[in-house]
Amino acid sequence: MTNPMQNEFVVVLDFGSQYNQLIARRVRENKVYCEILPHNVAPEELARRKTKAIIMSGGPASVYTPNAPRCNPDILKLGIPALGICYGMQIGCQLLGADVRPAPSREYGRTKCKVLDHSTLFESLPSQITVWMSHGDQVAQLSDDFIPLAATETCPFAAVRHKRYPFYGVQFHPEVTHTPRGGEILRNFLYNVAKCSGDWKLSSFVEHSVEAIRKRVGSGKVVCGLSGGVDSSVVAALIHRAIGSQLACIFVDNGVLRANETAYVIDTFRNHFAIDLHFVDASERFLTRLKGVANPEEKRRIIGHEFIEVFKQKARELKGARFLAQGTLYPDVIESQSAFGGPSATIKSHHNVGGLPAELGFELIEPLRELFKDEVRAIATEMGLPEHIVWRQPFPGPGLAIRVLGEVTRERLDILRAADDIVLEEITAAGLYRSIGQSFAVLLPVTTVGVMGDERSYEHVVALRAVETTDFMTADWVRLPYELLATISNRIINEVRGVNRVVYDISSKPPSTIEWE
Ligand code: XMP
Repeated sequence: MTNPMQNEFVVVLDFGSQYNQLIARRVRENKVYCEILPHNVAPEELARRKTKAIIMSGGPASVYTPNAPRCNPDILKLGIPALGICYGMQIGCQLLGADVRPAPSREYGRTKCKVLDHSTLFESLPSQITVWMSHGDQVAQLSDDFIPLAATETCPFAAVRHKRYPFYGVQFHPEVTHTPRGGEILRNFLYNVAKCSGDWKLSSFVEHSVEAIRKRVGSGKVVCGLSGGVDSSVVAALIHRAIGSQLACIFVDNGVLRANETAYVIDTFRNHFAIDLHFVDASERFLTRLKGVANPEEKRRIIGHEFIEVFKQKARELKGARFLAQGTLYPDVIESQSAFGGPSATIKSHHNVGGLPAELGFELIEPLRELFKDEVRAIATEMGLPEHIVWRQPFPGPGLAIRVLGEVTRERLDILRAADDIVLEEITAAGLYRSIGQSFAVLLPVTTVGVMGDERSYEHVVALRAVETTDFMTADWVRLPYELLATISNRIINEVRGVNRVVYDISSKPPSTIEWE
């Protein structure tokens, strides 16, 4: 993967840390282009890419265990400035001759750290800073080749640097917000130590990307599956800007979309952007296949399979398309290449509903594969996409089918759609839509007793779900104001026929998931 607009390249070596993406984000925030590569990348590859700096991430292993992930030691001798974080520091120090051992006591959480040397990483920082620690091992002994830069009460070498090689190590995590001055430490590394100039601009992305698409596609035709979400919308807008009428978009109504979704997507793309949009109403087909199916994985499988079939058929009808455009983002790329596909990677694998298999015979165009979600949003804004699309919360491929728990019927979908619409309307009216990761209604497969007027009712229950999250891998439930919850509950019970109870989901992920199915 090479980036045409990239001037300076920084790499994060993946030793299995959950913070890899966060580190890469922080580097990009400093206007330096950054990618995550496996820890065993060859030194020649780093040299070939004219790597400006290397960041060695943390990781769950212990450096003295036989199977611990190790990088090629020559990487540290390329003359490229390297910063080891936590495990990355330990492995770097070990490769350069230091002794790493279990710490006398595990250190976890906020710790006071004394700065001993203000010349490089800690330039312009006070003599004492707060840092976030999370480690069981630490550097126990250093040779004369190292200079200690900072220390905590239990960790004498909280930060070090090598005298001959440009290797720096910090035992704490500068990338997390719990290290309040961590941003400055990373910045000092990038700018003072690695002499980055910070000339990577997201704004030039559109220009470069449009040019690259034009060059690659030539006079060919491109098809793009549009879902109405921000990623596929930006892909369509970019390609449309590059090649105009050589692009055809396909939008499939799978019968499990939200209220008004179809009209909205058609209006935005056909009328506003004047894109050649082909709408396929396949709702009947999907709902027939879903009849009697209550198992969530089965629902996902059916929807994924039908989508591919419908898309394939439509794309064939369009004739002559050689390329398929997809909204793959950088986190998907990292996940599929990760050397550490832990449990989270496995859980996510079933999420690729809506993705299209390689055997469709198209050449893939993935203009967003180097970007994070918030960068995609920034580009969407820059390209003039409506706010409503830019700030859209993600919506799963299997749609409302995994929010109607149990069997999916038209009647149950209609109830959920009406309730969900109220949730979104009220959350938007309260000004909370943007700050919430995802908010939606779920229709439970139970009926409960209620009283309406003087009559006993026996009707459906709707659950509300609202979560805050940065990566959708972990999430916490949002403390929505009681007043807002009351309004939503009242409106749903009064306005949606067939519902007599509303509950609020106060579970975090893990151990719960965001979706109920
Ligand atoms: P969970 O429920 O696993 O969801 O906490 C994490 C994120 O993934 C979305 N999700 C899906 N997206 N197909 C998708 O395209 C799926 O089958 C699927 N299941 C969950 C979910 O909405 C959340 O954003």
